[in-house]
Amino acid sequence: MKQYIIEGGKSLNGVVTISGAKNAAVAILPATLLVNGTCRIENVPDISDVRLLLEILDDMGAVIRRLSPNTLEIDCTHVRDSEASDALVRRIRASYYLIGAQLGRFGHAKVALPGGCNFGARPIDQHIKGFETIGAEVTLHNGFVCAVAPESGLTGGRVNLDVVSVGATMNIMIGAVLATGTTIIENAAKEPHIVDLANFLNAMGAKVSGAGTDIIKIRGVKSLRGGFYSIIPDQIEAGTYMAAVAAAGGNVLIQNVIPKHMDCISAKLREMGVKITEYDDAIRVQRTGVLRRANVKTLPYPGFPTDMQPQIAVCMALASGVSVITESIYDTRFGYCAELNRMGAAIKVDTKIAVITGVEKMHGCTVHACDLRAGAAMVIAGLAAEGRTVIEEIEYIERGYENLIGKLEGIGASIKRIETPRGRRVPAVG
Ligand code: UD1
Repeated sequence: MKQYIIEGGKSLNGVVTISGAKNAAVAILPATLLVNGTCRIENVPDISDVRLLLEILDDMGAVIRRLSPNTLEIDCTHVRDSEASDALVRRIRASYYLIGAQLGRFGHAKVALPGGCNFGARPIDQHIKGFETIGAEVTLHNGFVCAVAPESGLTGGRVNLDVVSVGATMNIMIGAVLATGTTIIENAAKEPHIVDLANFLNAMGAKVSGAGTDIIKIRGVKSLRGGFYSIIPDQIEAGTYMAAVAAAGGNVLIQNVIPKHMDCISAKLREMGVKITEYDDAIRVQRTGVLRRANVKTLPYPGFPTDMQPQIAVCMALASGVSVITESIYDTRFGYCAELNRMGAAIKVDTKIAVITGVEKMHGCTVHACDLRAGAAMVIAGLAAEGRTVIEEIEYIERGYENLIGKLEGIGASIKRIETPRGRRVPAVG
């Protein structure tokens, strides 16, 4: 059993450096399947989701070299036309990008339906609609998605997404890069990692334009060649540290960020009384006074990200007055509130709305991480709470945060990771 143990109540001070973006990396790695030649990729976060994707690529015959902890060379020139191991694929939601990548590379794909965090129904109908638009025949059978291109190959088409979907936008982009003709994605998502994937593909010879707007145009090319790429900093990791400083108090310089990507999060924290100073590639977060209440509605980028919803909830739980969060992307994403309430928060949830009455203090206890970002919220709550917090099921957290312990210790937190044999529990205080 792996756990984090936090002795809370200490303010955070110093400098923390943000890693490469998880949600960009988990699309870019499968997309290397499309490339003839070596991709040198910098700023790859060393997190378990990435390690899993590398294992899948390795299984398929990719040649992978780690030049430094965060720089990889991946050569998929001689990958085998084989299925990705479904035991591995089911463990990570982003493995759905293997459908687009295999379809583009081999003209067919068979991938187990994705796993990942449970926020209610997470359909992939829009991905399928996109693949069908470029000529693939897609079937769902025995828990697998099977996609087959016609003998003449994939051909460009126009797809209008019914919902703004990050995954569908990126997957269709990956699938269409090597198709004949032009593919247009309308009502595309605009997240920073969508632009990053387009930039990666273009660095390898693709012709993708419009990424970052709601109409993306992909002019098919015959092949992609190797090249160099550096992944953008992780917007959500940076936001998580910002929320941690807001909740626990202190003064931290968060470096290796793109402040523009943080606008919505910075604006909300400023509204709550946190001082945010922006530099070229860093943000300073200072919180000394009382946090003020605020309301948040999660929206596609540039709106407030659903992946920051649990973290901001902790700040609101400690703010003066009543705050309201409206979750508009997922059906159920408030499972963690019950855990925060056990730590002394006062949150009432009604389906997609959480009403949070601020309390002066939270206290440590044993809680569990019910998903990746919920787990991050537990860490923030533990840092801000009085006494000891024990967090269980930290595997979720390690899917998406590189060196969380080292980074938090570096800014003054008291946090450690322990592994105990199953059945033996570390006593919780408070
Ligand atoms: C990605 C991110 C996840 C983030 C989410 C929203 C990855 C690996 N995951 O997830 O961290 O929380 O974006 O920013 O990058 N939908 C459909 N049909 C589809 C696809 C999506 O109805 O085919 C719906 C979903 O149920 C959801 C909404 O569209 O309500 C947005 O989902 P989407 O943007 O696709 O999220 P993911 O790609 O799964």
